[in-house]
Amino acid sequence: MPAFSASSPGKIILFGEHAVVYGEPAIAIPVFSTQAKAIINARIQGRPGEIWIEAPDISLSAPIDQLELDHPLRTAIQVVIGENDLDQVPSCNILITSDMPPSSGLGSSAAISISLIRAFSAFLGKRLSEEQVSDYAYEVEKIHHGTPSGIDNTVISHQKPVYYRKGNPFEFLEIGEEFSVLIVYSGISGNTKEAVEGVRERWQKEPDLYNQIFSRIGEITQAARGIIETGSPDQLGALMTENHQLLQKIGVSSPDLDQLVLAAIEAGALGAKLSGGGLGGHIIALVKSDADYISEELLKKGAVSTLITPVKNRDLNK
Ligand code: PMV
Repeated sequence: MPAFSASSPGKIILFGEHAVVYGEPAIAIPVFSTQAKAIINARIQGRPGEIWIEAPDISLSAPIDQLELDHPLRTAIQVVIGENDLDQVPSCNILITSDMPPSSGLGSSAAISISLIRAFSAFLGKRLSEEQVSDYAYEVEKIHHGTPSGIDNTVISHQKPVYYRKGNPFEFLEIGEEFSVLIVYSGISGNTKEAVEGVRERWQKEPDLYNQIFSRIGEITQAARGIIETGSPDQLGALMTENHQLLQKIGVSSPDLDQLVLAAIEAGALGAKLSGGGLGGHIIALVKSDADYISEELLKKGAVSTLITPVKNRDLNK
């Protein structure tokens, strides 16, 4: 019997993280040079319902029913089984791999869930729409993040740049002119749930100030959308840096992230910001032909790795 496998890209949020939880728009793009993968093989000798899961990156090797009830991998499987109303599931082995650092803003949790949901559904002989994949993955994201906006599962399941506003239909972005983003890993993991909860506590104490900041981030995202679709992408730099300053104000940056943002700009980036939940994870910088030089400077300043991603339209033949 053939193996069933599915891979998913990572993602970065270009603009609007955190404010998106409060109803403002955000823009995210898939990052294809980093991937999470799920491979499923039938266990010919296994009893129905026996599912063994291996994720060497987190040293996991166990039957699925020995994982905690709310374990994200178990939940992803349960959501698919529940939606298909199945009594008996054929026995299988599942292998999960990912080259994304976890809790770093690249969306590794959503990429893993989506790969697993796709591969497991295919194993059961079901083909899911992108919408269903995204909805199922959202159920799993709730475990990781508490009150996720839904942007990660949306961009990773559809694999296209999206403009996303919670509660509204998301929109795909057409990229007017290709540009490049340098993705820089600080080596420190962030905790999105903690970051989102921290923002909520501070917002409750100072709602007017926080609402003002969220609404400015919304304006920046809106302006960025126009530039991405029709303008000169160089103009995104200043908006990125302003977005970072606002993220600093709501307390989700860190001295390490600030230092990398500053170093990127000093080395010639047109702008830079943290990306994702913050408190660690990645920063992103808008770069031109000087990307290699900026990358070297950032590695000297403590960055652990860098990755350049082009932001362009991609024909997926879908
Ligand atoms: O840390 P990430 O990459 O999963 O991004 C979190 C983005 C937030 O806006 C902070 C939360 C959310 O659910 O949108």
